[in-house]
Amino acid sequence: MSLLYVCVEKSDVLIFATPIYWWNMTAQMKTYIDRLYAMKYDKRVLKNKKIVFLTTFGAPDFESSGANIVKQSLQRIASFTGMGFIHSYGVTSQPENNPAFQKALIEVFDLGKSLIINY
Ligand SMILES: Cc1cc2nc3c(=O)[nH]c(=O)nc-3n(C[C@H](O)[C@H](O)[C@H](O)COP(=O)(O)O)c2cc1C
Repeated sequence: MSLLYVCVEKSDVLIFATPIYWWNMTAQMKTYIDRLYAMKYDKRVLKNKKIVFLTTFGAPDFESSGANIVKQSLQRIASFTGMGFIHSYGVTSQPENNPAFQKALIEVFDLGKSLIINY
């Protein structure tokens, strides 16, 4: 984690990417976020960084999957730490929605480019 603290400190944008498990983020991502708590005491470190949320889920849409719950958590975390929540993006991984997945790959690629240009 000490290497990740250095990476976080140097970053302008933090991208939280997780599949939805039981209407929530994975345990691995939760552990990572828990450990960020150690950084909040130095207001200069997290303040003004930007947060992006990327997710996949089995349900047909964002709301019914639980992704909205994770989005709300990240928005609260952003508000608490002085970071800015700038974007969320989610797509179903259901095989019958493969065209949506292909479209999502292109849209997320474009999102990545816009982050490089803007931040
Ligand atoms: C333990 C577990 C819990 C899951 N819970 C949800 C859920 O609450 N809502 C949902 O839409 N999909 C749920 N899914 C489906 C996953 O979000 C979906 O298949 C995702 O694309 C899996 O990514 P992965 O293959 O990287 O684990 C769950 C899958 C697993 C394995």
